[in-house]
Amino acid sequence: MKDVLKAIEERSSTRGYKEEKITKEELEAVIKAGLQAPTAANRQEIYFSVIEGTNPYLKELHEDLLKGRGGSSEHNFFYEAPYLIILSGPEGFFWSAVDAGIAVENMALAAEGLGLGSLILGCIKDVMTGEKKAYYNKAFGIPEGNVYQVAFAVGYKAVTKEPHEYSEEKNVTFI
Ligand SMILES: Cc1cc2nc3c(=O)[nH]c(=O)nc-3n(C[C@H](O)[C@H](O)[C@H](O)COP(=O)(O)O)c2cc1C
Repeated sequence: MKDVLKAIEERSSTRGYKEEKITKEELEAVIKAGLQAPTAANRQEIYFSVIEGTNPYLKELHEDLLKGRGGSSEHNFFYEAPYLIILSGPEGFFWSAVDAGIAVENMALAAEGLGLGSLILGCIKDVMTGEKKAYYNKAFGIPEGNVYQVAFAVGYKAVTKEPHEYSEEKNVTFI
């Protein structure tokens, strides 16, 4: 297990997964990291829908995504990861997006610490909140009143990528 600064330094998005599923223990450790994330006023309102990558609704979701964008794609939107986790939160609650963002990064760091690959996904927002919102909410067990916030793919890495470049000069000021 990596220490937290090393996991932050070495994490990068994984866009290619092995077919082999991660273990139940690995999956549970990643979900636990999401549940342990802080939330505004400790409301713990973020809901995690854990979906196997082979779920037919994900195939339909991918097709809807392509329809909206036009064109085709070599991979599905979650790069054939064995699991996709959809995070939802109460619609209209100001902190839902922030809390989901914190939870998903906790999960990404836990995955990195365990040597797993992961990818944070925003691209399905339009489909998940569009005309088929109720349909997909039901398909993915999203509680009544909740709305999609962000998604997370996790699995064994089939490809690797260097962490992104960054610039302290551009993004930080000390006053
Ligand atoms: C809120 C959010 C939404 C994202 N949505 C997508 C996405 O839909 N598809 C994708 O391939 N990557 C997505 N990413 C991953 C970013 O592209 C990636 O984090 C960024 O390019 C930096 O690369 P790194 O994660 O390897 O450091 C998303 C990341 C965040 C934080």
